[in-house]
Parts: sequence; C-alpha cells; structure tokens
Amino acid sequence: METQTIELKSNTIEHPVFAEIRERKSRRAYLPTPVSGETIKSLFEAARWAPSSSNEQPWAYLYATKDQPELWEKIFDSLMEGNKFWAREAPLLVVSMVRKNFLKNDKPNGSARFDLGAANAFLSLQATHLGLNVHQMGGFEKEKIIRNLNIPDTHEPVVVLAIGYPGTPEQLAEPFKTRETAPRERFTQEFFVMNNTF
Ligand SMILES: Cc1cc2nc3c(=O)[nH]c(=O)nc-3n(C[C@H](O)[C@H](O)[C@H](O)COP(=O)(O)O)c2cc1C
Repeated sequence: METQTIELKSNTIEHPVFAEIRERKSRRAYLPTPVSGETIKSLFEAARWAPSSSNEQPWAYLYATKDQPELWEKIFDSLMEGNKFWAREAPLLVVSMVRKNFLKNDKPNGSARFDLGAANAFLSLQATHLGLNVHQMGGFEKEKIIRNLNIPDTHEPVVVLAIGYPGTPEQLAEPFKTRETAPRERFTQEFFVMNNTF
C-alpha cells in the first residue's frame, strides 16, 4: 500500500497575509539608534488596544532605554547568558508582566498570560510597521527581575522584549550570525487546522 507523506513544515508563506506579518521576525542584531519617546508610546498604544478577557487589560510594562543605564542594566542583569550575548546591543528593553488577579473581584485571572500574549503580538506588529525589531525572551531570572525592579506580588513578569532598529547579521558572533539568516520554519496548516471532528 502506498503511504501518503504529509510535509509538516515549510519555510514559505503559503497564503496571503499583510506585510507586517510577513516581515516580523525575532532578529538579534540591533543598530545603536535610540528609539524615540513618541515611538515607544506608539508601541504601548498598540498593546493597549489588544483584546482581553472581561476587558481586564491585565498587562503591565516596565521599560528602560540605554539613556537610562542604571534601569536598563537592572533588566539586562536578569537575562540568561545566551540572551545577554546579543541583547546587550538592544537600545530598549521592556519587561512585560501580568496583574495576576482580576481588578473587579481579586480572584485569579486565568486568562492574564493569554491576554499579555495578544498585547505583545499587537506591540510586535506595530513595531514591525515602524521598522523596529522585537525579540521576546522567556529566558530571564524571574526572582532577580522582581528584586531588581521591586515588582510587587500582585504582578508576575512573563517575557522581556529586546527592541531596536535591525542591524546586520555580520555584527553577530556565531551561532547567532548563521541563525539570523537561516530560513524560518513553520508547521503547515494541515498540522494544526481542522475542519472536522478532532
Ligand atoms: C514566550 C516566548 C519566549 C521566547 N524566549 C526566547 C528566549 O529566551 N531567547 C531567544 O533567543 N528567543 C526567544 N523567543 C523567540 C522565539 O525563539 C521565536 O519567536 C521563534 O523561534 C520563532 O521565530 P520568529 O519570531 O523569528 O518567527 C521567545 C519567544 C516567545 C514568544
């Protein structure tokens, strides 16, 4: 019997999507060019208009630019070594966090991290629209960042974002240099989209 093989991954965009989705990627090379205050406001405005469960908007952001070296260092200090290696060039670091409980009744908000993900996605696409690169990092020491930034127990840091204008792969040392231009791969829709019972 002939077996049918399904190609589970591909590195091409197979159906039309808008430009920012095509162009966004998690680069590691940054130019030293600062990100202006107005541009930073646009990024958080995009996050602000993300959907959230009960419209709770459980996200919170704490950012530092390289012009605020002490604060920037407090965020940078919490990153895992592998991330420090390249994120040291990012002119803007952002800690994204959630408010753990609902404001309305102080009960745990099971959707908080989900909603933060949506807000970070909105922020990332707005950044792409403005010619910026966003690289999200789960690789940081949670306890250290809580201590360094006095984050209260009501909030939990989830992902740190390195943001800046894209540089060139040549700036990076290996293995990051090669990774920067490697084809990006995604599961094809056959793998995760259903139109029948599971
Ligand atoms: C929640 C989350 C955590 C991540 N943590 C890291 C990280 O610690 N270090 C890193 O280099 N990339 C990290 N990434 C980036 C992913 O590796 C990247 O999004 C993925 O490989 C897909 O590549 P693309 O964003 O270029 O499409 C993270 C992304 C997300 C969404």
